Amino acid sequence: MDKIKRIGMLTSGGDSPGMNAAVVSVARCSMKKGLQLMGIKRGYNGLLGLSENPEDDIEYLDPETVLDIMDMRGTYLRTARCMQFLQPEVRSKAAEDLHKQGIQALVVIGGDGSYHGALELCRLGVPCIGIPGTIDNDLSYTESTLGYDTAVNVCVEAVRSIRATSRSHDRPAVVQVMGRNCGDIAMRTAIATGAEMVIVPEMEWDMEEIADRLKYLISKGNTRATLIISEHCWHKMKPFDWRKIIADSGRVIHDDDTLNAERLALVLKLMSNTEARATVIGYTQRGAIPTAYDSAFAFEAGRMAVELLTSEDGQRDLTTGYAIGVRDGRVYHTPFADALDENKKKFFDENLYHVVNSL
Ligand code: F6P
Repeated sequence: MDKIKRIGMLTSGGDSPGMNAAVVSVARCSMKKGLQLMGIKRGYNGLLGLSENPEDDIEYLDPETVLDIMDMRGTYLRTARCMQFLQPEVRSKAAEDLHKQGIQALVVIGGDGSYHGALELCRLGVPCIGIPGTIDNDLSYTESTLGYDTAVNVCVEAVRSIRATSRSHDRPAVVQVMGRNCGDIAMRTAIATGAEMVIVPEMEWDMEEIADRLKYLISKGNTRATLIISEHCWHKMKPFDWRKIIADSGRVIHDDDTLNAERLALVLKLMSNTEARATVIGYTQRGAIPTAYDSAFAFEAGRMAVELLTSEDGQRDLTTGYAIGVRDGRVYHTPFADALDENKKKFFDENLYHVVNSL
């Protein structure tokens, strides 16, 4: 393979705190190695010229230009979820266009969907390095993803405030956090705030048990317990006719209404005779300024990405691509195929889950 002289970089999927710090790191390390860095806008869409101004889709990233985005919120490169990239012919065209523009390799910051796209590009002859940019912490090969620590800190801060108001008014709280199908943000927020209950997509849960626990806590003098719920926990609820509880209270509920944080709080309020209130934390988790941990991880990951692309170590096989992650607290890299291995299940600490729900 020819010596790499020009690389591209994109952020893809949901934005996550630390993405910009990784761009700064790649820009500075590229300059040091004599590489030209091109920023590709709006994820894989930028490779396909799908935006309204395709001429703005790719820009030269001068380290001077990006110097000040280290702790900027959101992603400077913009982001998108690109469904077209699932089509093989679209990926082949993207690889051809990259060759035409002299972009010999890519650094992709994103979650597992973005990694699958990167792995396919590697197979088409475009070496890619992945940096795990997602607040969800849902990748099995890494102990932490970029943005996860920040998201947890945002949630912890919010729950501390919510618990103060809960205490003032003797009201329980239901707090919904993000995480897609991974309960890590919910679990970590729960243990860091002393929340009395947590529901995650990894574990089956029972509405009656939750209501009973709330009643028990109230009987013991805790009138302001907090229930942390992970956004996609609904499908793990044991069968329970919650609509009947709402309808019996004289409120209107339709067959196609689905359970959400607001309705869960209402059902608990009706079942345990409390003033439970709901808060959905939402995008504040993604648009936050990165914590020191995430910024530092981004910096190390960016440096490792450039090292991998420029190393003359014969042991490295760029045709497989590499994903950067954290193992035993240290930044490391592993082939994409290993990072995406479906047989390697993401660890979930069931013991901790039971402890939170029983103390
Ligand atoms: O992957 C990050 C994430 O925030 C998930 O936690 C959430 O399920 C999803 O993105 C929401 O995506 P969108 O902002 O596109 O609705």
